[in-house]
Amino acid sequence: MEKQHAGASEKNGRMPYEGFFEEETSQRQEDPPAGEVLDSFSKIFEGYGLDFTRYKANFLKRRLDRRMSILGIGAYQDYADFLKNNRKEFEELFRSFSINVTNFFRDPTVYEVFSSTIVPSMISNAGQSGKIRVWSAGCASGEEPYSIAIMFSRVLEKTRDLTVEIIASDISQKAIEWARLGRYPSKSLENLPVEVIGKHFTPVGEEEDKEYEICQFIKNMVSFGMSDILSSDARGLDAIFCRNVLIYYEKEAQDLILSKFHQILKPTGYLVLGMDETMLGRRCEKLFSPLMARERIYQKIDPAKGTKELGKIAIQQG
Ligand SMILES: C[S@@+](CC[C@H](N)C(=O)[O-])C[C@H]1O[C@@H](n2cnc3c(N)ncnc32)[C@H](O)[C@@H]1O
Repeated sequence: MEKQHAGASEKNGRMPYEGFFEEETSQRQEDPPAGEVLDSFSKIFEGYGLDFTRYKANFLKRRLDRRMSILGIGAYQDYADFLKNNRKEFEELFRSFSINVTNFFRDPTVYEVFSSTIVPSMISNAGQSGKIRVWSAGCASGEEPYSIAIMFSRVLEKTRDLTVEIIASDISQKAIEWARLGRYPSKSLENLPVEVIGKHFTPVGEEEDKEYEICQFIKNMVSFGMSDILSSDARGLDAIFCRNVLIYYEKEAQDLILSKFHQILKPTGYLVLGMDETMLGRRCEKLFSPLMARERIYQKIDPAKGTKELGKIAIQQG
């Protein structure tokens, strides 16, 4: 995996790569529409077992364009022919679909608000079970689930009889391998307070290529697995962090994912999206109420108190 770490300029978690909103930029006149380009690739993708239909067409086309420019191939048909019998190239292309940019405590205010407002109510909801389960869906190289674990570790210091389990998954095997290892270059830690680094990381390696490994206590709070969000069997969750993942997908797929989240969250469960993601004006708006709209923190609307609209969505998702 080409491991991309966000640097200081991405302090606020804005993605440094060409974001989805790039698709709003005007198309070059000679460019064929993305849908048309993808039609000629659909059979090839299917042959490799890739269901690309849920991804945004313009996003996929940009990935094709980038691979073609790296390889010096000008015509889509030539690239299609090249791809057809070349698994290695398909793997390169697939890797480029997965953008792993992330950082620790991405959008710090989200963590501040979540920690001061939501965590206390999660603890009181945990009740006698004393268990809190959080899913980091699309966790990339692990910075997000480890940040969640660090956030909860402060609570665990003060609260006895509480267990916090963080499930972290990603569609990319390579990302999960990095995440499990939990080693990061010093650049990845440059926005973290010194006391957080001192407490939760151990320096490893020689000076010139020194890395920082997340401590065992935090590692033990997180279990990593490779899976697609839609096929994951996570259940009974108190909160889901799914940040900067939905932006890859077409609206219908986003609705499907959000409906799934609604099903598997506990009745009072919380959902945290990325700063560029919103439920405003969506069918799924009926499934979640915005608690802190600016921070993209939502709470599940309990189906028991739901509206007709809610029932309709639940039926449609089957
Ligand atoms: C831009 S990163 C976001 C990482 C982290 N959530 C954050 O906000 O910093 C998006 C991650 O989502 C993963 N991803 C994309 N589609 C996915 C899917 N269907 N299931 C699981 N992971 C997915 C990608 O592999 C990538 O690692």
